[in-house]
Amino acid sequence: MIIRRIVLNNFRNYGRLDIEVGPSVNVIYGNNAQGKTNIIEAISVGSSVMSHRTSKDKEMIKFGEQEYIIDIYCHDEVYDSDMELKVSYMTERSTYNDKKIPRRQLIQDGMIIPKLSQYMGVCNTVIFAPEDLSIVKGAPTSRRKYLNLLICKVSPSYYDMLGRTRRIIDQKNACIKTFKGRWDSSRENELEYWDFSLAELSADLIMERFRYCGLIDRKASSHHSVISDGKEQLKVEYSTITGVEGVIRGILDTDDMFDQFVDGTLSEAILTRIKKSLTDYMLSKLRSERVTDVERGIYANGVHRDDLDISLNGLSMRQFSSQGQQRSAALALKLAELEIISERTNSAPILLLDDVFSELDEGRRISLLSGMNLAQIFITCTDRKFVENELSGFITNDSGIRFYRVDSGEVFYE
Ligand SMILES: Nc1ncnc2c1ncn2[C@@H]1O[C@H](COP(=O)(O)OP(=O)(O)OP(=O)(O)O)[C@@H](O)[C@H]1O
Ligand SMILES: [Mg+2]
Repeated sequence: MIIRRIVLNNFRNYGRLDIEVGPSVNVIYGNNAQGKTNIIEAISVGSSVMSHRTSKDKEMIKFGEQEYIIDIYCHDEVYDSDMELKVSYMTERSTYNDKKIPRRQLIQDGMIIPKLSQYMGVCNTVIFAPEDLSIVKGAPTSRRKYLNLLICKVSPSYYDMLGRTRRIIDQKNACIKTFKGRWDSSRENELEYWDFSLAELSADLIMERFRYCGLIDRKASSHHSVISDGKEQLKVEYSTITGVEGVIRGILDTDDMFDQFVDGTLSEAILTRIKKSLTDYMLSKLRSERVTDVERGIYANGVHRDDLDISLNGLSMRQFSSQGQQRSAALALKLAELEIISERTNSAPILLLDDVFSELDEGRRISLLSGMNLAQIFITCTDRKFVENELSGFITNDSGIRFYRVDSGEVFYE
């Protein structure tokens, strides 16, 4: 899939933007704060709905306006067909109580797409941005976002799974609150009701996450070994509810079986066994923690707190890594994402490289650019020459590079 045209209305500092883009490399350059990253963000939101900068859609509406619209016109080279993807988000005032009601609409070829999971994955993008560093050194939410978004892109039903789990956790928490901090065994069945569904949903989520963490670990460590000249060993491990890993490893007791699980080639019968054992384990765990949850007033130890343990030569990166090591690890994680999406969807995702040239040294830039010849790429930078010099060795066909100068929310073809 490639993008041919991008139309923005009231998105960030763009009132109206309508640009045609090239099928190969598109360099977006200009001074600071002119709107380069905003274009990258718009492409990312237009294709996978989520922004790498904010979780608040409202922030992306141009100041003083009520609605943003992102229109992306794509072309599918395999089927030789065109497609229009449209994401809009508005805050309108309710006629009932004058409160602002957020409303997002997803449209594909003029048809409203009711579920985000049906929209995701149609046009995949992978973004490399300075914010990637937070995957390594930031709070657990950054790592969960990385993992969730990656899985959503290759397995859209995961998004629904995630949504259902979140809703049940919210409902369980609302129920816990009604206990007002005091355990009441006569009301235990109310919690049992939520826990029954939660145990099963958690088991599904854990299996997907466990599998994809295995894949990420495999791919990221091999990219990292190239970036660091084989001097350092990167390890990515799924960190979830205590005891869960033991349940899975108890069934997948050989390395071979574990590899099959990661590759998705394990038999249905064994997958069903894992799911059953995990559901049972989760239910017993939920039951045993009920009193403490009620006393604390919140459900604490669930999949909503999952994390990734990222370590280098056995040391936790969050605590013990240098900035350069964090950059290499973040790059390896993003390259792993790119590879997983390419393999699972059988097509190269569109690459969005926001300011990465100023962030990475030469060795890491080479790691990033190697093998990117086939994909459509959008690159932002402040200095056009810098990118021209860097790219000359990688892009064989110079005529494929297009330049766009951004100046105060206006774009000029150069
Ligand atoms: N909702 C919004 N409405 C209007 N303008 C906005 C909105 N959000 C951000 N901006 C403006 O967009 C500009 C920043 O755009 P962007 O982040 O794309 O800059 P950039 O060209 O990537 O700069 P840099 O080179 O520093 O990364 C800022 O001037 C900011 O005030
Ligand atoms: Mg920027």
